[in-house]
Amino acid sequence: MPLNKVLCSDTFYLIKDIEDNSINCIIFDPLFDIEIEKYKFLVSEIYRVFKDSGCVYSFMNWKRICECKSILSEKLNIVLDLFSGSGVVSEVCSKLKRNSIAFEIDRKRVQIAKERIENWVIQK
Ligand SMILES: C[S@@+](CC[C@H](N)C(=O)[O-])C[C@H]1O[C@@H](n2cnc3c(N)ncnc32)[C@H](O)[C@@H]1O
Repeated sequence: MPLNKVLCSDTFYLIKDIEDNSINCIIFDPLFDIEIEKYKFLVSEIYRVFKDSGCVYSFMNWKRICECKSILSEKLNIVLDLFSGSGVVSEVCSKLKRNSIAFEIDRKRVQIAKERIENWVIQK
């Protein structure tokens, strides 16, 4: 799974390719019309990919994400943004020089995200 890019596809497919127990922080900001079965699938996948010491956050705005600096403080952490929108989480990660994986199905929003993170420094 490539790091530090916003991948333009369906979260429900992409999440299957993430390794077990590999993600430190999950940002969860879906639209609210997800069917219950899909929601259950996503929760089970979140538990699968999530490190024991990880955190799941469901919220969204720039200030709140910046408040998560404590959980973004380890350079080796990987942040997973399941519904990236126009890439606010990716922008915060790029500014903090942290790795992230982001999924977004809408091409226009992915393009906006790419523009706001064009100078991202990739951590290896
Ligand atoms: C509430 S918005 C996320 C906003 C984002 N957190 C931000 O700060 O800009 C939800 C996003 O999920 C995307 N989305 C909806 N269904 C999706 C799916 N199946 N896979 C990936 N993205 C999806 C929508 O296009 C929308 O941009």
